Amino acid sequence: MNRLAYTITAAIAVSLAGIPTIAAAAEINVYTTREPALIEPLLQAFTKSTGTKVNTIFLKDGLAERVAAEGASSPADILMAVDAGNLVDLVDKGVTQKVESPVLASAIPQQLRDADGHWFGLSMRARVLYAAKDLDLTAFNYEDLSDPKWKGKVCIRSGQHPYNTALIADYIAHYGAAETEKWLGGVRANLARKAGGGDRDAAKDILGGVCDIGIANSYYVGLMKSGKGGEDQVKWAEAIKVILPTFKNGGTQVNISGAAVAKHSPNKAEAVKLLEYLVSDEAQKIYAEANYEYPVKAGAAIDPIIASFGELKIDSKPLSEIVGNRKQASELVDKVGFDS
Ligand SMILES: [Fe+2]
Repeated sequence: MNRLAYTITAAIAVSLAGIPTIAAAAEINVYTTREPALIEPLLQAFTKSTGTKVNTIFLKDGLAERVAAEGASSPADILMAVDAGNLVDLVDKGVTQKVESPVLASAIPQQLRDADGHWFGLSMRARVLYAAKDLDLTAFNYEDLSDPKWKGKVCIRSGQHPYNTALIADYIAHYGAAETEKWLGGVRANLARKAGGGDRDAAKDILGGVCDIGIANSYYVGLMKSGKGGEDQVKWAEAIKVILPTFKNGGTQVNISGAAVAKHSPNKAEAVKLLEYLVSDEAQKIYAEANYEYPVKAGAAIDPIIASFGELKIDSKPLSEIVGNRKQASELVDKVGFDS
């Protein structure tokens, strides 16, 4: 076939495949602290839909330090992390840049992204109540955790764990430090056992009759029920029901996994496209399937186990404010002797 015919045929083939007719295949570099198994299906789907190749560097920790050390010659385009605190840390270390995208602004609730456009929440987990299955309880407020009626009945991990300092920081955002100290002391007085272990231990100890209620992350219920953690964990999950607690004057406390565009991103336009892809219905569904997380985008598909908890009404306080209260939260944990 002559050259012109070949070009036309190629163009048709490309458009039939739904791949944009870009001159050369673009490439971007993602630095992430998220586990490869969770992120790879999303990045592969992005490559399939856009033709842009994604190179990934997985870092267990030290993401901000690594990018900062690479300086202006850093090949990083996208920085991904779990926990709003880690995203704020990237901004504080000066390794991110502002992104203005109407797609991101409309898909992601305001309290789950940086007001200055430096980071964006892409998936959520909620700090929920695990309750003994037969307990006569259908609704719960975080404030109730300090109610003396729960004396000797509450299980929770260390107050210093980031999952709990975020919850306590959210309490501070609602009520201030003095009220939070009183509440935390009340929760401490209700503990069935020393604060410690992991989130799944709350379910384990409910099954064992150690406690009636516990505070833990939403996705662990899916992980336990899946059987990936063994038969025992399936039994722990079967012993509990999940209630989505709310603040009396707000909603359920959530944290995020999210991303930012690197300050010296060599491929900013493609990087923004990846972020926008990650809030598409297709990608939000993959997030929800991979780790039993909540999509950030309203109306995106949720795993049936997670959906069975009821409708999630996320708290109104911005994650940036919660992150700012964390140091104070950690000090209160020590002050009331929460872990001792
Ligand atoms: Fe976790």
